[in-house]
Amino acid sequence: MRIGTLGTGAMAEALAGQWVRAGHEVMVGGRSPERAAVVARRTGGRRGTLREAAGHGTDAVLLAVPAPVAPGLASELAPLLEGRTLIDCTNPVGPGFALTTEPGPSAAVRIASAAPGARVVKAFNLCHSGVWHLSPPVFDGRPLAVPLCGDDPDALDVVRALVTGLGCVPFDGGGLARAGLLEATAAFLIGLWAGQGVDAQAIAPPLPYAQGS
Ligand SMILES: NC(=O)c1ccc[n+]([C@@H]2O[C@H](COP(=O)([O-])OP(=O)(O)OC[C@H]3O[C@@H](n4cnc5c(N)ncnc54)[C@H](OP(=O)(O)O)[C@@H]3O)[C@@H](O)[C@H]2O)c1
Repeated sequence: MRIGTLGTGAMAEALAGQWVRAGHEVMVGGRSPERAAVVARRTGGRRGTLREAAGHGTDAVLLAVPAPVAPGLASELAPLLEGRTLIDCTNPVGPGFALTTEPGPSAAVRIASAAPGARVVKAFNLCHSGVWHLSPPVFDGRPLAVPLCGDDPDALDVVRALVTGLGCVPFDGGGLARAGLLEATAAFLIGLWAGQGVDAQAIAPPLPYAQGS
C-alpha cells in the first residue's frame, strides 16, 4: 500500500516503521523538513511535506498531530484527502484526563467535517506509541485487539488489513458516530494508567463472565 503520515511525532514514527517493515511504501510528512528526514531515515520511509504525504497516501493517510490542530490541518489538506482513507489516531485529552472536545462533537467527527471527501476511520488511539513499536503487540499470548470506528466499508477494510499486518486483531467498533466513545475510552484508560498507575487491562472480565455466565 501507499501510505502517508501527517505528522512526524511518536505515533507517526511507530506506525510508519511497522508499515515499512510490512512492505508498504510510506512517506513521512511533516511541517519540519529536518524532522521528516530524521523520521524517514529511522523508519525506512520517504520524507515529504504534509501536502506531499497526503498526496502520496493513495491507500491510506495517518493523521497523527495533536487533536486541537487536527481538524484545521484536515481542512487545509481537504482537496488532497478527497477519497483517501484517513486514519485518525488523535486523542482529545486535556488536563484532568478530560475530553477537550466536550460538549461538542468528537475529534473524529470534527476531522470528517473538515475534510468531507475523506473516509475517516478512528483507530490506533488506545495504546501508547511504544506499543506500536512491538512486533507483534502480543501480551500473555493474546494479540492486541484494535477497535475501529468508521462509516466507509472500503476504508475499514484497508485499516483492518493494516491492523492485521501488525499482528493485531481488528474489532468493529461501529460507525464514526461512535468514535467519540473510543476517544472517551482513551481518556478514561489514560487516567487510570497515568493518573493512578493501575493496570487498566484488569477492568474487563473474560467474555463468558462479561455475558453473565
Ligand atoms: N504518543 C502516544 O503514545 C499516542 C498514543 C495514541 C494516540 N496519540 C495521539 O496521536 C496524535 C499524535 O501524537 P504523538 O505522540 O505522535 O505527538 P507528537 O510526538 O507530539 O508529534 C506531533 C506531530 O504533530 C505535528 N504538529 C503539531 N502541530 C502541528 C500543526 N499545527 N500543523 C502540522 N503539524 C503539527 C508535530 O510537528 P513538529 O514536530 O513540527 O512540532 C509532530 O510532527 C495525538 O493526537 C495524540 O493524542 C498519541
